[in-house]
Amino acid sequence: MRLSVIGCGYLGAVHAAAMASLGHDVVGIDVDEAKVRSLSLGRAPFHEPHLEPLLAEGIAAGRLTFTTDMAAASGSAVHFVGVGTPQQKDGDAADLTYVGAAIDGLLPYLAPGDVVAGKSTVPVGTAAELAPRVEATGATLVWNPEFLREGWAVKDTVDPDRLVVGVPTSSTTGEPDEAGAAAADVLREVYHAALANGAPFIVTDLATAELVKVAANAFLATKISFINAMAEIAEVTGADVTQLADALGHDVRIGRRFLGAGIGFGGGCLPKDIRAFSARAEELGRGESVAFLREVDAINLRRRRRAVDLVVEALGGSVFKKNVTVLGAAFKPHSDDIRDSPALDVAVRLHGLGAWVTITDPAALENAQRLHPQLNYVAERDDALREADAIIMVTEWDEYRRELTPEHAATLTRGRIVVDGRNGWDAAAWRAAGWTYYGMGRP
Ligand code: UDX
Repeated sequence: MRLSVIGCGYLGAVHAAAMASLGHDVVGIDVDEAKVRSLSLGRAPFHEPHLEPLLAEGIAAGRLTFTTDMAAASGSAVHFVGVGTPQQKDGDAADLTYVGAAIDGLLPYLAPGDVVAGKSTVPVGTAAELAPRVEATGATLVWNPEFLREGWAVKDTVDPDRLVVGVPTSSTTGEPDEAGAAAADVLREVYHAALANGAPFIVTDLATAELVKVAANAFLATKISFINAMAEIAEVTGADVTQLADALGHDVRIGRRFLGAGIGFGGGCLPKDIRAFSARAEELGRGESVAFLREVDAINLRRRRRAVDLVVEALGGSVFKKNVTVLGAAFKPHSDDIRDSPALDVAVRLHGLGAWVTITDPAALENAQRLHPQLNYVAERDDALREADAIIMVTEWDEYRRELTPEHAATLTRGRIVVDGRNGWDAAAWRAAGWTYYGMGRP
């Protein structure tokens, strides 16, 4: 099938490459010339495992091209729209400028029977608002949210947990109308490989599809803040939040995943999506329904400050002119993404308190340096650890969590203080090696 993907950022680039790997003919379209050039050469403009081989394979097979020319969309059966929906500069709501521009830019190239499939995360109600413009061309607008995780984006796209497609429905029955049912069939064909693998294919209305995405992210964020709230209680009672999470996780209704207490969530999705959801709910007169999300956000931000306080406490009440090595800058491992990174926030706060902060990260160093040039960046982990008075792990890369032993670290640092911002280390092992270990929500 011939497909176009409008917007070749994180979501779009991965989607385009993944669809080509399934045998489709795909054209990726983006306004950013540098991005298009890089992708055309098989180079991903960001760090994502397994993406570059997929790009190379699609390009070599002649099934994958990238361009800045929207006219290239003409002739595609499905046009995926995966442009960004960042947080507005002056508020919490999502900025829909790019989505609107992409749809409007696409209109002249649509033909009757085409499917326009929105993938961007949007406030509920957006698709219904955009639909008339698309329908005027004879095409059908559906919403097909994307649940990919950075670092696992290729796997999540090729082999998703579920596929959700919101289609136009009849106002009397609530069932997909004729165009909606036909569009759902087209997407079934696009995703035939995932369906053959057993992925559930959920056809619903536009609003539900939009909501599935924001509700999923709101739930995940809530789960993390829940355990971080328990960490706050653990801190004043001597309880251990990691043992608590293990015990809770055995209840299959709760599950252990996303119960990792630490410095909290960041990245390009969860923080902005819960804020946009709150803003949208308020617009709809239902702010109180998701008022708890404001609390989820507040707990999350408090944990970053707590990590900083722990370093200060560990160093005897002040970090002024102390060497603090920060292990990690990315918002999570396997990513070079520093958007709303709790790791960098902690580093910047320590710097603000007068510490000599040295940061290292296997992938995100350049991005971090561009954003915060005032900090000291060191590429090699061991070089970064030399002469440190204290270490704080803020991104749980294997290089730190698994491969850095307390014995080895002790040969490099000056002090023996370690703060585990991700509760990733074996506290007993560090203590046995002579370190003072501080965890998040651990005694
Ligand atoms: C998230 C959703 O998981 C994905 O489905 C959606 O499409 C986009 O947003 P992503 O931002 O890639 O994906 O990261 P995710 O793996 O969900 O982690 C988000 C943040 O939560 C990270 O900062 C991570 O460190 C933090 N986290 C995760 C915790 O603090 N504790 C946990 O137990 C799990």
